[in-house]
Amino acid sequence: MNDKLETVLSNTARTLMADGKGLLAMDESSPTSNKRFALYDIAQTPENRRDYRELLATTPGLGEYISGAILYEETVRQLTSKDESFIDVLDRAGIIPGIKLDTGTTDLANFPGEKITEGLDGLPARLIGFASLGLRFAKWRVVFSIGEGIPTDECIHANTQSLARYAALCQQAGLVPIVEPEVLMDGNHSLATCFEVTERVLKSLFYELYKQRVLLEGIILKPNMVLPGLACAKQNSNEEIADTTVKCLLRSVPAAVPGIAFLSGGQSSELATERLNQMNLKYGSKLPWPVTFSFSRAIQLPALECWKGQSENTVAAQKILLYKAQCNSLARKGQYVM
Ligand code: 13P
Repeated sequence: MNDKLETVLSNTARTLMADGKGLLAMDESSPTSNKRFALYDIAQTPENRRDYRELLATTPGLGEYISGAILYEETVRQLTSKDESFIDVLDRAGIIPGIKLDTGTTDLANFPGEKITEGLDGLPARLIGFASLGLRFAKWRVVFSIGEGIPTDECIHANTQSLARYAALCQQAGLVPIVEPEVLMDGNHSLATCFEVTERVLKSLFYELYKQRVLLEGIILKPNMVLPGLACAKQNSNEEIADTTVKCLLRSVPAAVPGIAFLSGGQSSELATERLNQMNLKYGSKLPWPVTFSFSRAIQLPALECWKGQSENTVAAQKILLYKAQCNSLARKGQYVM
């Protein structure tokens, strides 16, 4: 990789990790977005998805707390009600536009209960197109379920290798890859089991990134927090979760990585914020990398619930979104008070 490309990538990554800021994931696939709309009886149409995402992207003041927003391909191709591209709207708000590049998960053949993420075929050409539109970073998510005998080493290897190949292709095109290995919360496993699985996944990921010659200074890691399963009888305190998450990351993430931005993974909005705050309050500047948020549900759901698909609720929903972004910005600094 030449010096100029290295500089572009590490500058973008550092800007995404700017002090007091985090990322807004607004890249739900259409089926996922439809499921969320169904929760609040909102009609599941491309026009409503467009209106909702316009509400998010045009929230006044959002750029004060949000450094980058991850878009779904549908949104990149849509125009706002004022006939503007979402990329231009975000740029004007001082928010770097990014794009979800994976095309979702499918069953991993011969490994019941495990998934593989697709989207590598044709990716270089898609990347050239997205880079020319002004998108500057990207995201790829792989998922691991915890259960009897899973995740297997084979599933971890297949997925972390594809994450590393995606990351290499992104960097070649000048986009910063967000690498997102998500260990899911579903199940009755303990905090200790989630720690063990997350550590296995992250160690495999960084080995594969190394093997694919990915520039660590030009990526952002988007991991799960280390959590007990949703159905586990023992639900640990926020402090235990923060301690365990930090311990796992310190053991597995090289100091060269410019930042870590957590997914929320189905935690409530309050818990995700409190746990991020706890990590920054207790460890903050002692960590080798900044830790922030790249939430979808934990930032968006309160606003979606307020909007309900009704244009008269847009301003109120934007106020809620801005408030949630501000809470997480404070948590990014360890200054959030409930
Ligand atoms: P959640 O914060 O809702 O987990 O979403 C983050 C994300 O981008 C999932 O890929």
